[in-house]
Amino acid sequence: MSKRGCMTTKVAIGVAITAVLLCVSANLRAQKIAIPLPPMGWSSWNSFSNIVDSQVIVDQAKAMIATGMHKVGYQYLNIDEGWWLGQRDEHSNIVVDPKAWPALAPGERAGDMSNIVRYIHGLGLKAGIYTDAGRDGCGTFSPDLGPSYPNEGSEGHYQQDFLQFAKWGFDYVKVDWCGGNKENLDPAVQYAEIARAIARAEAITGHRLYYSICNWGKQSPWTWAPNVGGVTADIWRTSGDIVAPIVAGSKNAGRRASFKKMLSNFDQGIHPEAQQTGFYNDPDMMVIGMPGLTDAENRVHMSLWAISGAPLLVGADLTQLSDATLATLTNPAVIAIDQDALGLQAVKVRAEVGGLEVWSKRLSKPGERAVLLLNRADDSSSIVVAPLTVSWKDLGLAGSSATVSAPWEGKDLGSFDEHYTATVPRGDAVLLIVRGTEAKPNRILPSPTTKATHEGSGATQSEQTFSIKASACDQPFAAVQIEYKNPDASARIAELRVNEQDATRIAFPPTGAAQGSVWIQVRLSGAGTAAAASNNLRFSSASGQASKIDSIFLHPNEICGGNGAGTR
Ligand code: GLA
Repeated sequence: MSKRGCMTTKVAIGVAITAVLLCVSANLRAQKIAIPLPPMGWSSWNSFSNIVDSQVIVDQAKAMIATGMHKVGYQYLNIDEGWWLGQRDEHSNIVVDPKAWPALAPGERAGDMSNIVRYIHGLGLKAGIYTDAGRDGCGTFSPDLGPSYPNEGSEGHYQQDFLQFAKWGFDYVKVDWCGGNKENLDPAVQYAEIARAIARAEAITGHRLYYSICNWGKQSPWTWAPNVGGVTADIWRTSGDIVAPIVAGSKNAGRRASFKKMLSNFDQGIHPEAQQTGFYNDPDMMVIGMPGLTDAENRVHMSLWAISGAPLLVGADLTQLSDATLATLTNPAVIAIDQDALGLQAVKVRAEVGGLEVWSKRLSKPGERAVLLLNRADDSSSIVVAPLTVSWKDLGLAGSSATVSAPWEGKDLGSFDEHYTATVPRGDAVLLIVRGTEAKPNRILPSPTTKATHEGSGATQSEQTFSIKASACDQPFAAVQIEYKNPDASARIAELRVNEQDATRIAFPPTGAAQGSVWIQVRLSGAGTAAAASNNLRFSSASGQASKIDSIFLHPNEICGGNGAGTR
């Protein structure tokens, strides 16, 4: 590329590089390394509260197969609170009610949770279980349909309980916070200790347990939950429950899920800087198909979870899904947005007064974005329908032309210059896939590596720093592709601190002898303000554990020079 071309690009994307700037083609050399994707499945809580038993799970597992949901990726059957009422034997082993959890096949013993796991595995599905980080659980404080029962948490028994879950064969564990909250425990400390108990159980049994942290966003888990306690993949709740359980035929049957609360959970789940390399924000189990939301609202809900790259955990009774609900839950093109291999979260690229928003999720095919045009105006607003426009510049796409398709409808809408406009009714959204030309990223080499010995612990840390400048027209978030090498058999981890922001932790899966790449999104300080600001990306790892980062590629989420309308 000519020097002139290089400078043009530099001005166009509005990012000055203080370290080393090289112009490169968008076809980067390193191969994208696979990362764990957000889990998909079903959970018992929303529709069965704490009266879950073996029969409920058998019926739901059968329904997951009969509906074909397993064919589009749903796999976990997660048993939530109520499976265990706090009883332990003289060796402190968990004891369950043999009537609720009977033998399911010849030779099995009633009261053994491995029965239901075997059943679920026999259908080709995976099994999840639930506990609390505290001594008591939610069943003590707010038992919903059951009686109040104490000692339903794992505190004091972490090693024993998580080993038991793995021995039973469970593949997934959700750890709640009712007891931990009551005791004023520090979630970052407790959940790290639990992660270590899980790692030990995995080492002993050779069985993986996926880790779901459920402390409702308290103490900002997005700042400590990625890789907490050394876990290589996890999810963490970012808010309270969308709805209290709605159990058919019970005193709770009259409850209703609310669209407004679902939107609020979506908002609270957006932390793009923490969602990367296999770590995910969890805005809660979905309420799609439960009483309260219309079919159109269910679609908006699914679109929001898909652009969030959120765990897709269904809360509705799978034996009762309407055709419309099933179609909403199983649209392959929409699920593909959620399960995209980059594992990134959408960022808001435009917001207009009155609740009109444009969201963009970067997808793994170069030049591809999932775009949501969201009209959040409610019934009290004078806005009944509104035109919403997404411009290619707002998506960080170069070139004037891009094609647009509608994943819900499975339709190609054609090729459009500069932008696309749709009319969106209030309380509704339009989901699009835009395919355009990726803008050329800037390659940035590390500043000279520093090694610092930390006083006290005496531990040596390896650090690599990359310096970039945000300009006045940048979006707050930029996508960064990291080219690195990790010859080990397991992921290496680095803590990333951008300026003085809270740190996050990035996983670098094995690359063999070759070079690989993973993607993250960073919040640029000073973006969108008049004064361009320097940003330092500092990766640090315990010495000997550091992946070698060869370079990073900065992909702006906006091309400077777009129309200046709107606020962010
Ligand atoms: C909390 C969690 C829910 C569910 C219930 C069980 O409220 O957030 O998802 O697990 O506890 O009591």
